[in-house]
Amino acid sequence: MAKFIDELKRTHRCGDLRITDVGNEVVLFGWVHTRRDHGGLIFIDLRDREGITQIVFDPERSLEAHRVAEQLRSEWCIGIRGTVRDRGMQRNRKGELVSAHNPKLDTGAIEVVVSEVVLFNRSEPPPFPLEDSLDTREEIRLTYRYLDLRRAPLQRTLRKRHVINQATRRYLSDQGCLELETPYMVKYTPGGARNFLVPSRIQRGKFFALAESPQLFKQLFMVAGFDRYFQIVKCFRDEDLRLDRQPEFTQIDIELSFVNQDDVFRLVEGLIFAIWKEALGVDLHEVYPTGRFPQMPFAESMRDYGNDKPDLRFAMKHTDLTDLVIEHEGGGVAPWAELARKFRDGSYRRDLPPEIVKVLVVPASANLSRAESDKLEEFVKGMGAKGLARAKIADDGSWTQAPLFKGLAAGLREAIHKATGAGPGDLLCFQFGKEAMVQTVMANLRIHLGKKLGLIPEVGHGNQWNFLWVVNPPLFEYDEERKGWVAAHHAFTRPHDEHIECIESDPGKVLCYRYDLVLNGFEIGGGSIRLHDPEVQKKVFRALGISDEEAQSKFGFLLQALRFGAPPHGGIALGMDRIAMLLSEAESLRDVIPFPKTQKGTDLMTDAPTPISPEQLSELAIRTLEIDKESPPRSP
Ligand code: AMO
Repeated sequence: MAKFIDELKRTHRCGDLRITDVGNEVVLFGWVHTRRDHGGLIFIDLRDREGITQIVFDPERSLEAHRVAEQLRSEWCIGIRGTVRDRGMQRNRKGELVSAHNPKLDTGAIEVVVSEVVLFNRSEPPPFPLEDSLDTREEIRLTYRYLDLRRAPLQRTLRKRHVINQATRRYLSDQGCLELETPYMVKYTPGGARNFLVPSRIQRGKFFALAESPQLFKQLFMVAGFDRYFQIVKCFRDEDLRLDRQPEFTQIDIELSFVNQDDVFRLVEGLIFAIWKEALGVDLHEVYPTGRFPQMPFAESMRDYGNDKPDLRFAMKHTDLTDLVIEHEGGGVAPWAELARKFRDGSYRRDLPPEIVKVLVVPASANLSRAESDKLEEFVKGMGAKGLARAKIADDGSWTQAPLFKGLAAGLREAIHKATGAGPGDLLCFQFGKEAMVQTVMANLRIHLGKKLGLIPEVGHGNQWNFLWVVNPPLFEYDEERKGWVAAHHAFTRPHDEHIECIESDPGKVLCYRYDLVLNGFEIGGGSIRLHDPEVQKKVFRALGISDEEAQSKFGFLLQALRFGAPPHGGIALGMDRIAMLLSEAESLRDVIPFPKTQKGTDLMTDAPTPISPEQLSELAIRTLEIDKESPPRSP
C-alpha cells in the first residue's frame, strides 16, 4: 500500500468524475463526510472543496482496504486509489429495480471501488455535524471556524469571493487601472471613523493608526500621475459592530484622474455587471437594459425613505407633514401646536437640524390587529423613540384608536389624507421630534413593515437586484454638540460650482459631488469627486472653522501635494464584503468573511484580543488602567 503522499498523486477532485470516466483508475484525496456500513460493503462519501464522491470498500476487491474502512470515522483525512464504475441499478423498498444514480450530486452517476487506501490523519469527533444547514450556536462555529469553513455553504461563499476578486482585477485592469498598494500603518488623523492605534517601539510614546481606508494615499497616486488606480484592500475601523460592519473589512478601492461623477458611475456600473455575470451568471442588462443604474437626490431619499440607502424593492414611502402642520398651526394637536409656535417665534430654523413630523401609511390590506399595531410601538421604542402615535381611518374618514389626535382639526386631517393618499381602513403611524431620530425610526419602521407584510421579494425571484445611486448630498451638516458645521463626509469633496459662493454665508445649502451606491437597502459603495482647487478648499476650511495651522497639522501633506499641479480626480470604494454577503444571500458579514470578529469585536478561535505582559508594555512606554469590565468602552 502506498503509505506516503509522494507515492499517491491525485488524479481528480471529488466533484469531477462523471459517467464518461467509468473504467478509469483514479486517485482521490479528501475527508470522510459520511460512512455507511452495509455488512459486506462500506460506502463512504468522500468530500473535498469541489464536491463529494461515493467510494465503495468491497472486501472482495481489497480486504486490506476494507479493514481500514472499518476504522474510518467522520472527518478522517484519507487518500484512495480505485476504479470508477456506474452506480447501476438497485432495489427500492418495494423491491423494484430502479436506477441507483443520485441526481442531487454532480458525481451521482458513478462510484469508485477502492483498491488502496491511505489514512493521512484521524480526526477527533467534530463538535458539530458538518452539514449544509445546522442550528449550532454561532459561538461554537466561530471557535472551530476551520471546521465551519469545511461546510459546503461557506465553501461556496468563499469561492464567490475568489470569483469577485478575479472579476474585479480583470475588469479594472482592462479599464486601465493599475493595482497599487498603500500602507496600512499611517498617520493618525482625527475625524472620520475611529482608528485602531499601533504603538511604535522604536519611536517610544508615538503611535501609528491602522488605515481606515487608503483615501489620502490614493489621491497622492493621482498627484503622482498614475492616472487610474485600484486596490482590493483591507481597511480597519474601530466602530460599533453590526451585521453589516466588521472592524477589519475589504474594499474595492478606486481612484481616477480627469473624470467627472458620471465617468466614475460608468466604470463602477461596468464592474458590477461583470461581477454579477461571473459570480452569479446573472446578466443585469435584463433589469438595466441601458447598463446604467438609476439615481436619486439625497434630499428625496431622506424625504421619502428617511435615510440615504433606500430599499426600493417596495414602495411605502414616508410623507413629511412638517410644512402642513405648521401651516395649520398644529391643527389642535398639542405637540404639533408647540412646533408651529417655535417656527413662528423663530426658535425653530428650517436649515438647522429641525424638528419634523412624518407619517407612514400601513394599508388596510395589511389587516393589522390592535395587538400587532401595539407591537410596532414596541419596535420603535427599542430604537429609543418615545412612542408611535397611530390613528386608524374609519369609513367616515374620522380617526379612531387615536387618543393623541382627539382635538385634531378636520382641515389638517383632510390635508393629511390628501398628502398621503390614505383612506378608510388604513393605519397612520406618526413620528415627530428631532429630525435625526424621526428619520432613523421611520426608515427602520418602513423596512420592518416591508418584511413583516411580505412586501420585499426574495432575491433571485423576478430579478430583484435593486441598485441605486444616491447623489448630491449636502457638503456640510450641522453638529448640535459643537454648535457648528462639520464636513458631512470629508473636507476634500468638491462642492457643486453654483454653490461655491454660499460656502461661507449659507453652508447648509451647499450640495456636493458625493455619491453612494445602494443595493437592496445596503450601502455597498461610496465616493466623491475631490476638491483639488486650493482656493475653494480654503473656503471650505473656513466654513468648518478649521484654521490654517489646524489644516496644516491635520492634512499638511495632502494640501501640499495638491499645490503641485494635482489633476482633477475622484473615486469610490465598494464594500467587497457587503457585495459578497448580498450575492450569497447571507444575513451577516460573518458568513462571508473567512475569519470574522464577533459582535463584541473578538476572535473566538484565537481568543484575540489578549492582555500583554508588563514587559512588553514598558517596551512600548504604555501603562494600562485598571479596567472595570462592567463599564462600556470610553470614547476619546
Ligand atoms: P466609505 O467609508 O463610504 O468610503 O466606505 C466605502 C464602503 O465600504 C463599506 N464599509 C464597510 N464594510 C464592512 N464593515 C465596515 N465597518 C464598513 N465600513 C464601510 C461600505 C461603504 O460603502 N475612502 C472612502 C471612499 C472614497 O471616497 O473613495 C471610503 O472609505 O460598503
